[in-house]
Amino acid sequence: MDLIKFNDISELESEQIQQIYRENINPGQVYYYKILNYHKTIIKSASGVFLIDQNGNKILDFAGGVGSLGLGHNHHRIIKVREQFRENNNHQIGPYFFSQYVAALSKNLATISPGDLNIVILGNVGSEAVENAVKIVEKFQGPEKNKLIYTKNAFHGRTKGALSITDSKALKSTFRLIEGDYIVDFDRVDQIEELLSINNDIGGVILESIQGGAGVIIPKDGFLKKVRDVCDKYGVLLIIDEIQCGFGRTGKLFAFEYDNIIPDIVTLSKSLGGSNAAISAAIIKESIYKKAYSKKDEWFLQIPSTFGGMGEAAVTANEAINILYDEKLMDNAKDNGRYFLNRLKDLQAKYPKIIKDIRGKGLMIGIEFNDISQTFSPIISTLLSSMDKKLKGSITAFVGSIMLNEYHILAGFTEYNRNVLRLHPPLITKCDHIDYFIDSIDKILSGGIVEIVKKFIKMKL
Ligand SMILES: Cc1ncc(COP(=O)(O)O)c(C=O)c1O
Repeated sequence: MDLIKFNDISELESEQIQQIYRENINPGQVYYYKILNYHKTIIKSASGVFLIDQNGNKILDFAGGVGSLGLGHNHHRIIKVREQFRENNNHQIGPYFFSQYVAALSKNLATISPGDLNIVILGNVGSEAVENAVKIVEKFQGPEKNKLIYTKNAFHGRTKGALSITDSKALKSTFRLIEGDYIVDFDRVDQIEELLSINNDIGGVILESIQGGAGVIIPKDGFLKKVRDVCDKYGVLLIIDEIQCGFGRTGKLFAFEYDNIIPDIVTLSKSLGGSNAAISAAIIKESIYKKAYSKKDEWFLQIPSTFGGMGEAAVTANEAINILYDEKLMDNAKDNGRYFLNRLKDLQAKYPKIIKDIRGKGLMIGIEFNDISQTFSPIISTLLSSMDKKLKGSITAFVGSIMLNEYHILAGFTEYNRNVLRLHPPLITKCDHIDYFIDSIDKILSGGIVEIVKKFIKMKL
């Protein structure tokens, strides 16, 4: 059998990796990476805010793993803890004993979470935390009141339960999902109240404090407070999904803290893993959990999945929490986020025809470009749609592609709004990284739309 060994991996060429993706993983990914001209880059190492490619280029990572890189790549304290864990031969999996690692992490999560958000269910990925949160609501409310309200353009994950409350026709496809939940516009508490006032079968509301996949949509101040009040009025539980916007990214541990509320359940993942571990948590109000699982034997059956809280993942997340506070990264997110937003707003004033909106909180930022589909000449339109029909009209992909290929900056895109560049810089980002980003995008935009499109097309030919 011709198996690839660990030492062979570093020898794999870009072409070979592409081939494996085409044949064994996901040909669609190859198709899109090629359109963006991302397909030749192989990342060889990563440190802090930078990825290093096979040619030694330092790529400024402002896509930040869609919010998973709060601490940046390979933070030295995270690496040290993980090495120590291995040197000591600590156990990863031991389902028949208590785990001191899970205990430490859970205690710390309860300590940093407001109010009586004290019960922690660990999982591996964000979707799993969402599944656990939704199950608590069902169990708490009983079968007569187990429907949920979720929001338009919400993204809560790809497992079937989480997908059922994710507002994407494309992702939902023709799958057989949980039916009967209700959907409202984000930032419209009146719609939530209207539904609650006429339906007795709703047990919970789930929403993101800031919608990420929708294009970094920040609700009006006080929206979450109003939702909290309406939920209380109708005896409905509130789940807040902070998988993307949480863990200090907005300048507070949880973005919902800006509205001074405490949800019944909060979900966390991504940066909780210290940029090195796959881990998630549903953190639940003690009073809610104890009513949902009032019998100890029933409660016992709710132990997490096989890998929910593996030793090394738990100590990694635990160290990540300590670093977040020791290094005052939330202050950095707040201060440098403000600096970043101000500089971007200046750029918007300079290019009002290109940039439609700048929005963000802390270091969760969206740059929305104007839809320029109508301004292309028929020749350019045809050329662009021959690459991909979804791209025409969106200069976001062109700008993102030029950023990577000419300026070595990685910016992210969003699920639902093709005109938005989504930025999740690590919380350790400094002003000079932001300056480099601003100067680069300034140079890209200075040539105007036609130049951007020309450059993109030239890069592809
Ligand atoms: C807000 C939000 N919820 C849930 C998820 C699902 O997390 P995962 O992909 O780890 O399952 C994501 C992932 O991007 C997310 O952004």
